[in-house]
Amino acid sequence: MDRIRIRGGHPLSGEIPISGAKNAALKLMAAALLTAEPLTLTNVPRLADVRAMAELLASFGVKIQVTLSGNFGEGDTMRLEAATITSAFASYDMVRKMRASFQVLAPLLAREGAAKVSLPGGCAIGARPVELHLNALEAMGAQIDLAEGYVTATAKGGLKGAEIVFPFVSVGATETAMMAATLAKGTTKIVNAAREPEIIDLGNCLIAMGAEIWGLGSSEITVQGVEKLHSAAHRVMPDRIETGTYAIAVAIAGGDVELVGAAPDTIASLNALLVKSGATVTATPRGMKVQMNGGRPKASDITTAPYPGFPTDLQAQMMALMAVADGTSVIREKIFENRFMHVPELARMGAQVRIDGDTATVRGVEKLKGAQVMATDLRASVSLVLAGLAAEGETVVGRIYHLDRGFDRLEEKLSRVGADIARVSE
Ligand code: EPZ
Repeated sequence: MDRIRIRGGHPLSGEIPISGAKNAALKLMAAALLTAEPLTLTNVPRLADVRAMAELLASFGVKIQVTLSGNFGEGDTMRLEAATITSAFASYDMVRKMRASFQVLAPLLAREGAAKVSLPGGCAIGARPVELHLNALEAMGAQIDLAEGYVTATAKGGLKGAEIVFPFVSVGATETAMMAATLAKGTTKIVNAAREPEIIDLGNCLIAMGAEIWGLGSSEITVQGVEKLHSAAHRVMPDRIETGTYAIAVAIAGGDVELVGAAPDTIASLNALLVKSGATVTATPRGMKVQMNGGRPKASDITTAPYPGFPTDLQAQMMALMAVADGTSVIREKIFENRFMHVPELARMGAQVRIDGDTATVRGVEKLKGAQVMATDLRASVSLVLAGLAAEGETVVGRIYHLDRGFDRLEEKLSRVGADIARVSE
């Protein structure tokens, strides 16, 4: 099985191209189910999760063509055509492997009037229930039956517009409601909607496909249902979590890197913390630049929250930075109940972290030491890579299939800016 080997202590300099956002691309691909006409996505990241979603959509009869980009760092082009849906069934095997597969439920139901999709079950970072998705579809007139681990949703006369009030913010449930509402009869109002940039990206693509949507980026989204959607082309937004990860890489390893293609306004909460920790972050015409010249980073407290708050998907990476910071930082994880799995692995490298419920207290140490560590989920695993960049000696990260799910050509991007990192197979 492949591992990633990192020898720490090399400052980074040069350019890193930022790929299209995984968490936008997966939902945009699902949105192709809403129309019989082709949807062309550009800037598609090259990721295992994208391939898994393509495989799932193909099992519904969607015809997919991918044109691989020949230039390093440029996204691929994917044309998806759901002319006829031959099956509206997503198996446990598919949904268990990748939770985002559950996002096919709403578009299949909206288009076909019926769908059977496996419940995702828990995952490494928490229980992650889906009742908000199901409540939203029920409010729109769907009949939902749960049996043997599957959701069977039917809406014989089609979905109807409704007022959906979410008790708390959910990215996925907002996307479910928004996609379902595009083809529903009448108007849907989504109250307490998620405001993540990926929701805006999906909404803009749906608008290009002929949907009528107002309020994207605010906590109240209104959708006026239309008879059908049509062909469109859409460029996947830059990945703000990948951007943030490489920005933290510079803060931890030192150096000067331009993140080409990044959208700095989508990670303002991180950038403010990086500046507090001693980095210089500047927007450039091509993206953003991060510099960290000498000196230890300074400790800061961090609390994860829905957008525009600090993203849970960057919490593990920031913990790696705080592990070598000057001072003590308190990190609160408010989105997922089990998202500190990187802590025991970081501890193997010498990090001093104490966990109490949803709070981790990190006492910065001068130096981490390379060790053999194991990836547990996507963001946790990249935090180990970041820690390895700052550590003395050699770090070997195992179970890197987690990384391949969500980081497009990670070791190539990092080695091009001077990191000593390689994929080794054993
Ligand atoms: C999306 O997950 C992302 N995944 C996650 O990224 C991200 O961490 C998360 O949003 C928060 O930003 C994708 O976009 C594919 P939620 P999602 O619904 O939509 C609870 C990564 O590493 N909840 O906003 O599943 C839930 O358990 C991944 O790329 C319910 O209780 O997140 C969580 O505690 C990990 N019931 C909170 O809400 C529901 O019906 C927020 O989850 C739905 C959610």
